[in-house]
Amino acid sequence: MKIGIIGTGSIGASLAQKLVAAGHQVKVNNTSSVEELAKKARELGASPATLQQLVQEVDVVFISIPLHAIPTLPADLFRQVPADVVVVDTSNYSPMRDGRIAALDNGQVEGVWVAEQLDRPIIKAFSTLFALTLVEMGTPPGTPGRIATSVAGDDERAKKLVAALINDTGFDAVDAGTLADSWRQQGGTPAFCTELTAPELTQALTAAVPGKGPLVLGQVIAQLMQRDTPPTREEFVALNRSLANLVIQ
Ligand SMILES: NC(=O)c1ccc[n+]([C@@H]2O[C@H](COP(=O)([O-])OP(=O)(O)OC[C@H]3O[C@@H](n4cnc5c(N)ncnc54)[C@H](OP(=O)(O)O)[C@@H]3O)[C@@H](O)[C@H]2O)c1
Repeated sequence: MKIGIIGTGSIGASLAQKLVAAGHQVKVNNTSSVEELAKKARELGASPATLQQLVQEVDVVFISIPLHAIPTLPADLFRQVPADVVVVDTSNYSPMRDGRIAALDNGQVEGVWVAEQLDRPIIKAFSTLFALTLVEMGTPPGTPGRIATSVAGDDERAKKLVAALINDTGFDAVDAGTLADSWRQQGGTPAFCTELTAPELTQALTAAVPGKGPLVLGQVIAQLMQRDTPPTREEFVALNRSLANLVIQ
């Protein structure tokens, strides 16, 4: 497939490398200079592109930038882009990084807010995989204990296409329902950064409690701030599991 990725940070760069390794053609964009972007693209096996170039002649566009930066993307970015080009949002709302966004604090589903900002339907995916999980924990299809991640959205064709890309990056995909349902995979929910298999993730999505995610996320951040060193992948996953009271049957 032809894929554009906006953002080459922890998630965008890892996605680019994995999708290139799986045989896809990838273009990338970030906020740095033309020279720096070209260097980054070379490192990832991708091509550098302006935002306008990135959304042209692709099958999929990933938006992998901090959520607060999404409204700063050009308002007309997707206006000339055919409707069958799938836009995937990997973002999560983190008030400490993003500042306070009233609509989200008042309970609007993050994915719905993002779609409104972009004036474009989106698929929400890759948002529940901790960056180190994405980098280190992918396995071939059928591997026992293969980790899963959820995909939510309102277009079944688009969700299937994204599920295939999730598989290409080394993970099982679990259908998490519509974009309005995607609160079940937001920060602080049992599905969030807890490294679950597909059956476990299905249970975790069902176990989500409305309104609880932001409280748990706040507790996770408070505990992380007390540390002198960043957590290992295992410590971060264990913290999310315990604070979300994840019980797998
Ligand atoms: N890190 C995780 O474990 C994780 C897991 C799941 C989901 N997510 C979510 O995925 C999103 C990306 O996270 P991340 O950790 O990859 O962030 P990050 O490491 O901070 O990287 C952000 C990237 O976005 C680029 N960027 C920012 N504003 C931009 C703009 N207006 N146009 C183009 N590029 C722009 C930055 O460009 P420069 O390189 O030029 O600075 C950078 O490459 C966030 O919403 C985050 O919540 C993160």
